[in-house]
Amino acid sequence: MFRGRTQAATVVDSLNGHRTDTDYIIRAEDVSKTYESETGKVPALRNVDFSIERGEMVAIMGPSGCGKTTLLNCLSGLDTIDTGRIWLDGTDIATLSDRKRTSYRARRMGFIFQVYNLLPVLSSAENVELPLLVAGVKPKEARERAMAALETVGLGQWTGQRPARLSGGQRQRVTVARALVTNPAIVWADEPTGALDSRTASEIMDLMRDLNERQGLSFLVVTHDAGIGDRCDRIVRMQDGVIAGEVAHDIFAQSMAVATRAD
Ligand SMILES: Nc1ncnc2c1ncn2[C@@H]1O[C@H](COP(=O)(O)OP(=O)(O)OP(=O)(O)O)[C@@H](O)[C@H]1O
Ligand SMILES: [Mg+2]
Repeated sequence: MFRGRTQAATVVDSLNGHRTDTDYIIRAEDVSKTYESETGKVPALRNVDFSIERGEMVAIMGPSGCGKTTLLNCLSGLDTIDTGRIWLDGTDIATLSDRKRTSYRARRMGFIFQVYNLLPVLSSAENVELPLLVAGVKPKEARERAMAALETVGLGQWTGQRPARLSGGQRQRVTVARALVTNPAIVWADEPTGALDSRTASEIMDLMRDLNERQGLSFLVVTHDAGIGDRCDRIVRMQDGVIAGEVAHDIFAQSMAVATRAD
């Protein structure tokens, strides 16, 4: 089973003691971001260092207002940073033009949010093919790929339904299909299961984990649900705009950590 870089490759890297820039899908160094609000300045991110390796599934957890969404938005280029540097696929995003950054986002990134963000007047297939049409893919190919993505998420029977006639879990499956249809390098998921009951949340997590393992898709999952966090490769904890700690779930990494402590 393909588990991205999280097991053998990570061990080899740690034995070698180094990684190269191309091992990371995203890397942020010393990133800070302050919002101006009516009540004054809000330091949402303070000197954050953070990275995701190719094929990794990382959870971000922490109390409301600690900066999780801000971090996701800054890393994905939806929002700008004040200071620091971010490398996307090895390229410093500050060196990319707005057009290139937008085009990278459309082609290489998928987004899943807590609210489904589906267009109510469009069917499942039409919602899913939209990012492809925006990226200039021909309608026939876009439709074929949308149908395949809906098949992947188990909605092959529901391609003609509008969102209002789908359950919450089915709607979130449509957004997962829409996120993966462009064949992205990374999917950003901000509380993807926040509006779902626990059983449906677990099914959506199974689906995302499966895509991660089978297709090597990297995921950043912001979540308040410890059960979701536990099923990611790593949990990064944030507090007051800083990264407060990290837990790796890689079994080998854990045994290495135990071995190191025993030394
Ligand atoms: N556009 C904005 N303008 C002003 N302040 C903002 C803006 N967006 C976020 N903030 C502030 O920045 C801080 C971090 O917000 P952020 O949305 O990143 O938190 P979060 O960890 O995602 O919280 P939640 O779990 O509630 O979604 C908060 O204090 C918030 O009020
Ligand atoms: Mg948030």
